[in-house]
Amino acid sequence: MKKVLVIGAGGQIGTELVLTLRTKFGNDQVVAADVKETCPEQLSNGPYRKMDILDREDVSTYIRETGFEQVYLLAALLSATAEKAPDFAWRLNMEGLFTILDLAKEGSIKKIFWPSSIAVFGPTTPSENTPQYTIMEPTTVYGISKQAGERWCEYYFNKFGVDVRSIRYPGLISYKSLPGGGTTDYAVDIFYQAKAKKEYSCFLSENTALPMMFMEDAIRATIELMDAPAEQLTVRSSYNLSALSFTPKELAACIQVTIPEFKITYSPDFRQAIADSWPASIDDSVARADWGWSERFDLFNMSTEMLKNIDINKIIN
Ligand code: NAD
Ligand code: SER
Repeated sequence: MKKVLVIGAGGQIGTELVLTLRTKFGNDQVVAADVKETCPEQLSNGPYRKMDILDREDVSTYIRETGFEQVYLLAALLSATAEKAPDFAWRLNMEGLFTILDLAKEGSIKKIFWPSSIAVFGPTTPSENTPQYTIMEPTTVYGISKQAGERWCEYYFNKFGVDVRSIRYPGLISYKSLPGGGTTDYAVDIFYQAKAKKEYSCFLSENTALPMMFMEDAIRATIELMDAPAEQLTVRSSYNLSALSFTPKELAACIQVTIPEFKITYSPDFRQAIADSWPASIDDSVARADWGWSERFDLFNMSTEMLKNIDINKIIN
C-alpha cells in the first residue's frame, strides 16, 4: 500500500500540499495525480499519474491495485468558474467525491481529505464570526456542491465508518502556484500587479471583507487535521477555519507599506455578488478545541512574504 495520493495535484493547493507531504513521507510515497497530460514541473521530484477523476473505472482500478493510506481529493471547479459552467461544475465536484468515498467504504483507502469552503454559507448566514453550526443557504453552484459534499462526507462517516476529514477553507493566498478561478483570487492577483505595475484594478469593491489564509497555514492545518486522533474529531462534515479577514482597501494599505506608490481602483464584476453572499469572518473555535488549530500568519506577515517571494513572470492577467 502506498502512503498518499493527491488528486488535483497541479492546482493552487495541490502543488504546495504535494511538496509538503513528500517532505513528510518521502518523495516516492506521494503520488501526484491530475487531469493535466504531463507532470507540472514543480512536482517532478516524485511520481505523477495522469488521472481524470470523472473516469470512475480508471480511478477505481488504479486505487484498488495500489491501495492508499490517504487520498486528498482536490479536483473541482471553483466559485467563479463554476458559475460559467454549472452543469459540469456540479458533475465534477460531486462525482469524484462519490468515487473516492465508495473506494474508502470498500477498504481501498484508509483516510480521505476533501476540502469544503466558506462558500457553503449564504446571504442568510450571520456574516460576522460565522459559527460552525448555523444557517446555510448557499446561492452559488459551487457552494451548493460543497454543502452537498459535506452532507455526504458526514453520511459516509456515520453509516459506513469512512474516515473522511474536511476543512471549510477561506480564500487561500500563495506564491508558489496561481489560483484557479475563485472569487478570492484578487488577493493573489493584487500582489503580482503591485510588484509588476504598481497598480491594480480590483474586481471586488473596496469594503468587501472576506475570510482569507496564507497557504503555509492552510497546508499545515490540513496535515494537522489528517494527523489528529479520530476520537478527537467532533465534526465529520467540515471544520470552520479562520486566520485573516480583510477588505481590498485594507490589503492595498498593507501593500503600500512596502510599495508606497501602489494604487488600487475598483471595478466590481459578477464576482461581487458571490462575495456579498459569503461571510466576512469565521468562528473556528471548534477546530481550535478539537485539534489545536492556530494560525501563524497575520495580514502584515502574509503580505511581506508574498511581496518577497512572488515571481512576476507568472502574471495572471
Ligand atoms: P485549482 O483550480 O487551483 O486546482 C484544481 C486542480 O484540479 C487543477 O490542477 C486541475 O487541473 C485539476 N482537475 C480539474 N479537473 C480534474 C479532473 N477531472 N480530474 C483530475 N484533476 C482535475 O483549485 P485549488 O484552489 O487548488 O482548490 C483545490 C480544492 O480546494 C477544491 O476542491 C476547492 O474547491 C477547494 N478550495 C480552494 C480554496 C482556494 O482558495 N484555493 C478555498 C476553498 C476551497
Ligand atoms: N477561494 C475559493 C473561491 O473563491 C473559496 O472556496 O472560489
